[in-house]
Amino acid sequence: MGLPSVAARNESARYCWKIFNTEKVRKSELAGTPYRYWSSFAIAYLLEQRLSGRIDFLDAGGRDGGTLELLRGLGLRGTYTLVDLQPRLASRSGGDFEIEVVQSPFRDFRPHRKFDAILFQSCLECVESYADIAWARDCLKPGGFILVTIACKNTRRLYPGFWEQGGRHLLDEGDLAPAFAGIGLRIVWACPLGGAMSRISQFLLHTRFSDFVRRVHGATAAKLFPGIAKIDPLAKLYRLVNLTSARLDRLGPLWRIGHCILLEIDE
Ligand SMILES: C[S@@+](CC[C@H](N)C(=O)[O-])C[C@H]1O[C@@H](n2cnc3c(N)ncnc32)[C@H](O)[C@@H]1O
Repeated sequence: MGLPSVAARNESARYCWKIFNTEKVRKSELAGTPYRYWSSFAIAYLLEQRLSGRIDFLDAGGRDGGTLELLRGLGLRGTYTLVDLQPRLASRSGGDFEIEVVQSPFRDFRPHRKFDAILFQSCLECVESYADIAWARDCLKPGGFILVTIACKNTRRLYPGFWEQGGRHLLDEGDLAPAFAGIGLRIVWACPLGGAMSRISQFLLHTRFSDFVRRVHGATAAKLFPGIAKIDPLAKLYRLVNLTSARLDRLGPLWRIGHCILLEIDE
């Protein structure tokens, strides 16, 4: 994967634009928030680079198991374990993935198998002490890796809803290596997620504007035509705005929203 981009001298050189080349990204995620847009590309890019064939995958804080769509899109099969405080998926055997769902806080989770890959997407913000996830190092197979997306400290006002739900343990770039070294993991690759334009569109469209539009949609068109109640009236706009913001961020990459990091065992 080359040298970790955290070693680059300036912020612009730390960005990895190759993430946007992957065609395997979950299309359903592209109309989410700008941070979600960037995270989806980074995760798809990394998993495409590192995984093939039969795998054992742990989706930590995986909620509804949406990552399965990506794994299937990458042509993978094997076992998929999801651990979450409040999972919204059921265990199932048979098919391309044997699915095991564990309802547990990270602190009490005791994995009974080893994994090729572990994903913590947008959930470590809810974890105060990484001692709670120290099991992650011990349940990696040789050559296994951990992928994390986590937001920067100055995003509190950008995601007030997540903050209120407990997503308060944010990390800046300088905090990442010491935090994971404490549980025996080292960063082998890192990529900033989002930039100034993505922040601005998050603030203007998602934090300020979308509640209003959804309320109007719910009270008007969705009432008249119940069939369209579940359709997000802003999805097409968001997808276009996310694409445009990411392109504009490329012209002057700074003021990241968060980071995607790849971790391996620190021997
Ligand atoms: C913002 S959601 C992210 C869900 C999923 N990873 C994604 O990106 O779509 C955070 C998830 O982490 C879970 N979570 C938060 N703290 C946790 C903990 N201490 N132990 C287990 N799960 C936790 C929550 O229940 C929630 O489903």
